[in-house]
Amino acid sequence: KSTLSRHLSGERVIIVANREPYIHQRAADGGIQVSHPASGLVTALEPVMRACSGVWVAHGSGSADRETADAHGRIRVPPGEQSYTLRRVWLSKEEEQGYYYGFANEGLWPLCHIADTRPLFRAEDWRHYREVNRRFADAVCEEVEGEDPVILVQDYHFALAPRMIRERLPRATIITFWHIPWPNSERFGICPWRVELLEGMLGASILGFHTQAHCNNFLDAVDRFMEARLDREQNAVVHRKRQSLVRPYPISIEWPSQWAQATPPTRECRASVLAELGLPPDTLLGVGVDRLDYTKGIEERLQAVERTLERAPHLRGRLTFVQLAAPSRTVIERYRQLNASVEVLAERINQRFGTGNYRPIILLRAHHEPLSVFRYYRAADFCYVSSLHDGMNLVAKEFIAAREDEQGVLVLSHFTGAARELTEALIVNPYDLEEASAAILAAVEMPREEQAARMRSLRAFVAEFNVYRWAGRMLVDAARLRQRDRLNVRLP
Ligand code: G6P
Repeated sequence: KSTLSRHLSGERVIIVANREPYIHQRAADGGIQVSHPASGLVTALEPVMRACSGVWVAHGSGSADRETADAHGRIRVPPGEQSYTLRRVWLSKEEEQGYYYGFANEGLWPLCHIADTRPLFRAEDWRHYREVNRRFADAVCEEVEGEDPVILVQDYHFALAPRMIRERLPRATIITFWHIPWPNSERFGICPWRVELLEGMLGASILGFHTQAHCNNFLDAVDRFMEARLDREQNAVVHRKRQSLVRPYPISIEWPSQWAQATPPTRECRASVLAELGLPPDTLLGVGVDRLDYTKGIEERLQAVERTLERAPHLRGRLTFVQLAAPSRTVIERYRQLNASVEVLAERINQRFGTGNYRPIILLRAHHEPLSVFRYYRAADFCYVSSLHDGMNLVAKEFIAAREDEQGVLVLSHFTGAARELTEALIVNPYDLEEASAAILAAVEMPREEQAARMRSLRAFVAEFNVYRWAGRMLVDAARLRQRDRLNVRLP
């Protein structure tokens, strides 16, 4: 284990995040299967929890979640290792509909992402959102030991929980991390419950975002919609006599990656992936890995591949792009539409450029476990992350973690938080098909030495700024706040 992860050991933290790190499902043969959800949040936080001790409070979402947990919804995880407790909270169908699908994913998700999908705000969804935040806040308080616990509240599912927890535990250190972008205040202002959301979040001692720009947008919203004192120099807000620090903490992945360590070497991955897909050895292989979500720019990505084939006839028959697309939030109409339109688009491109057995686009619409995803990362000549807007995007960092061979090119959307850090990637505007296809061409033609030089430097960056450092920085800031409170420094 790295020094940074050792540094976290002994910290007892309570995390509340909607998505659970392990999902227990009843398999067709009657046995129980454990899977890892496709979620950047889980990718980042699970290793942190393994390094710390404590409890992860989450929505129990698997078909065998109840029977594998005890009467309080608790189960020790990871399976076999059992380093921390997963505490599951069960939701009724109506609660899940209103809080998760409705307010969180049809309201806040499109509100925060600039991807031209209109947010929908329904009073009924808001009511469930509030109630479910209350239920999770109660579960957190039940897991607390002592008067001043460290509680990490994760993401847009729980904007109200920090205040609810604060009312019950005035001395708690509450760190809220917002995993998605925070929009400018014109956009944020269209939410009918904008003040309630801000009030809720300001229950936290520290509010973390990926970038300074998101912090600034949040501070602007507070300035515009609330009676609160802003300290722009300190990046802080004083509200109800309490201070909340607003800070950028760019999220990352574990390093070394457990999945990279468990994946066979590049040559083997490449041979087995090409064989599985029925592709010849001289294939130029691109890979995309996402939830099927309209913020990820999957259509623009396939169009960029199409444009590449238009521009470079010599690549027809050789260039294949495989898209791993995990079905996501399929109850929501917009996601179903996307699913259908991606399929139609892939089919159209395949009709246009396919010959014999050759299909330029291979669309694999299924959940893939991390080990399988890492095989694809290793098999590929390039990975294209084309998000139209993304808080960070950890697929980009995972691709880097997979490439111990220092080969492979990352083509990365300018509109991800990751683009600010991973400057040796080929950074593109995914809406600009000329630029994106030029980058794909450059990627497949890039000399091995240049690939190695870029990848080496990307790997050095992610190795250093890994997720233990992300968590460590927040916990260090929290420790300083606690120390200051103990010294009883009065706020001006
Ligand atoms: C984003 C969110 C996470 C979420 C993940 C997967 O990364 O920030 O909170 O877990 O998407 O979405 P899902 O709705 O399946 O949990």
